[in-house]
Amino acid sequence: MIRALSLAAVVACGPIPPPAPDPDQPPPPALGTEKPLPGLDRTWSQLDKVAKVRVMKDWVLPMGRDMFVGYNRDRYESFACTTCHGDRANRGEYAMPNPQLLPLGFGPDSGYAELVARRPELVAFMKTKLSPAMADVLGKSQWAEDNPDGFGCWSCHPKTDKIPRSLIAPEH
Ligand code: HEC
Ligand code: HEC
Repeated sequence: MIRALSLAAVVACGPIPPPAPDPDQPPPPALGTEKPLPGLDRTWSQLDKVAKVRVMKDWVLPMGRDMFVGYNRDRYESFACTTCHGDRANRGEYAMPNPQLLPLGFGPDSGYAELVARRPELVAFMKTKLSPAMADVLGKSQWAEDNPDGFGCWSCHPKTDKIPRSLIAPEH
């Protein structure tokens, strides 16, 4: 006990070492809305393309498949990178939004209310399941009027003022 105390006193009186870099402390995120991804110590935006592809393969593809198959097994049996990214993914092009997805707008004249009325289950799936889960897996906060950089519909779907009427198809 006495020895332990005197050792503590020596340590306390010695020179104070410079603070060691803490390997558990992730680098500050590039965007205020992003969290570092588990095990990677980087936010999604800070990853290079190789790491982004790995996140997509390991986390997003299986999660997306589970969710889409849970929503409609017959339609999404062959769920793949192309379901979200479009045919361009076959050429290695993954920039989002995907121009092959339904363009979306939410203004009073956009047709969004009609879309919700005609496709209530699909819109609910996108809004309450897919979007929040994707935001979470990418460490992003969810889109909101006051958080336009957050993850939401426009992270996958192109923006428009008016949703083309011909594309507001009934539930299939
Ligand atoms: C459930 C939908 C979904 C699936 C499935 C999916 N992705 Fe993605 N992917 C996204 C979204 C959304 C983004 C954009 C994320 C962001 O930056 O907000 C993205 C971004 C990417 C990027 C980065 C693009 C860029 O310009 O930075 C790459 C590369 C990518 N995906 C590859 C793939 C690959 C390869 C697969 C299949 C293994 C795949 N993705 C499957 C939704 C998906
Ligand atoms: C992670 C990417 C992603 C996000 C986020 C997302 N969607 Fe989608 N959405 C898709 C994909 C992929 C399809 C196409 C599925 C298919 O080909 O059957 C789709 C299809 C749709 C459709 C049907 C379009 C059609 O032509 O049949 C509607 C409506 C829709 N989404 C609404 C929304 C709304 C509203 C939001 C935001 C609350 C949203 N989506 C967020 C990926 C996304």
